[in-house]
Amino acid sequence: MLNSYTICLLLYPICGLMFFNFLVLTLRSNQPIGIFDSGVGGLTVAKALVEVLPNESIIYFGDTAHLPYGDKSIHTIQGYTKRIVDFLLAKDVKLILNACNSASAAAHEMLQEYIGSKVLLVDVIDPVTEFLSKNYVDKSIGLIATKLTIESSVYHNRLNKLNTKIDLRALATPLFVPIIEEGFSAHQLMDIALAEYLSDPKLSAIEALILGCTHYPVVKNKITDFYQNKVEIIDTSKIVAARVKSLLASKKLLATAPVTRNFYVSDYTPNFAHMTKLFFGEEIKIEAVDIF
Ligand code: DGL
Repeated sequence: MLNSYTICLLLYPICGLMFFNFLVLTLRSNQPIGIFDSGVGGLTVAKALVEVLPNESIIYFGDTAHLPYGDKSIHTIQGYTKRIVDFLLAKDVKLILNACNSASAAAHEMLQEYIGSKVLLVDVIDPVTEFLSKNYVDKSIGLIATKLTIESSVYHNRLNKLNTKIDLRALATPLFVPIIEEGFSAHQLMDIALAEYLSDPKLSAIEALILGCTHYPVVKNKITDFYQNKVEIIDTSKIVAARVKSLLASKKLLATAPVTRNFYVSDYTPNFAHMTKLFFGEEIKIEAVDIF
């Protein structure tokens, strides 16, 4: 017969273990999310993320010294992103969000292998192709992105892997990133580039358009105006933010602590500071760090 003393003795290690697990999970869930991009583009994803996950702390890294990524080689981008991941891992993040399509196209598999199971890794292409395969089968969809993303055929390949039949019409629009990074997104220059690219016959008769570069939501209104609201513009930042939320929830890693937001760049640029303030509505301290 078990007396209360024996029961206590038996339960003590079990309760201790449960409490220890609870403590580890709580501490881990309050670690920040690391986000990176070549420059300001990832801010569009960071903004969407803090809207759906206001309790999450973030560490953002913009590789402003090396942008644009979209005209570099895969090998070069892999080298840059490895260093950025090391930087974010040293900051003890719980999840790394590769908020750049070009870096997702060039380095996602390599980074997944490099990181292993140390932290969670999310890119900006898988959540979107999965969303397309659920909602746009047999439709004609346009895709605009950087040269690297388009030439890699990553969207086609991942849709094929999902056995999804979509008439995907892809066009490289390499001038958009430099124009946005130079602070000319509201300028006539952007209107000219937009009209030139979006009038390309490849994009005629599309039912929706994917913004396949995280910089492009900055000019989403201009793109919507160009199509006079007749083409649905798929803003991928919201899709990616929803994926991060569901992943953290499934791993019981949603944060509960007060938030911190830290922004780092490899080269300080006034436009980065301006855009960060614009996105987050407050003056934000940006630190330039040499990680290369
Ligand atoms: N935001 C990056 C992307 O999604 C821009 C790439 C670049 O720097 O060219 O591809």
